[in-house]
Amino acid sequence: MTKTKIVSLLTGASLLLGASIAGATDCKKAVEVPDASKILEKDKLKPPKVWKMPAGCISTDPKVIAIGKYIFHNLNGKKAKTPPPPGLSKTQMKPGKTYKPGDKIPPKQYGNCVACHNIEGAVGAGNIGPDLHHYKEHFIDTKARDYQYVYQQIADARINNKDTRMTINLTTGLFTPEEVCAITSYVVSDKKEK
Ligand code: HEC
Repeated sequence: MTKTKIVSLLTGASLLLGASIAGATDCKKAVEVPDASKILEKDKLKPPKVWKMPAGCISTDPKVIAIGKYIFHNLNGKKAKTPPPPGLSKTQMKPGKTYKPGDKIPPKQYGNCVACHNIEGAVGAGNIGPDLHHYKEHFIDTKARDYQYVYQQIADARINNKDTRMTINLTTGLFTPEEVCAITSYVVSDKKEK
């Protein structure tokens, strides 16, 4: 092989190499890197908030307790096996979204508290959170907890434990104060089931 031939071979190889590197650079440019900061900001959890229990919040009305119980034991309006009790909707419009007649309204989200807590009558309860059986006798009647504590725990558990694993229900707007009152009323109620 002559010297010129070797040089031209080498040049050819480096040209090829150069082309493939240029190709790689182009590919990189083709990958979209969308700015997700706005979405992340929207989904960010709001800071912990102290919630004062509204006056007359705790009720012994069976209708209110039935609402709290249903929210406790169910995930959402689609997954629930029984219809919700009077006063509780199966579907809920997303805030800020406009619906035309005939549009599908999404299922309402409930608490699914049983995913983490066992309680009277629970089916397939989880054990991430404490067992809430006999909550009234063990926690309220003994004055270990008061209604305000339970209300705050359900509204925003981060006030009672900054590292909590429990879901945040009122600060996130998942439930209304009335619904948190219904859930609290259920937790502190006298229960007949085992
Ligand atoms: C992802 C798991 C999880 C879910 C879901 C959950 N909790 Fe909890 N819960 C916990 C943990 C863990 C604790 C222990 C205290 C803490 O870390 O906040 C707790 C504590 C509590 C307590 C306080 C018990 C005490 O010490 O007096 C109550 C009451 C309670 N939860 C009710 C509920 C209700 C009602 C719901 C549904 C709206 C719910 N929890 C959903 C995990 C959960």
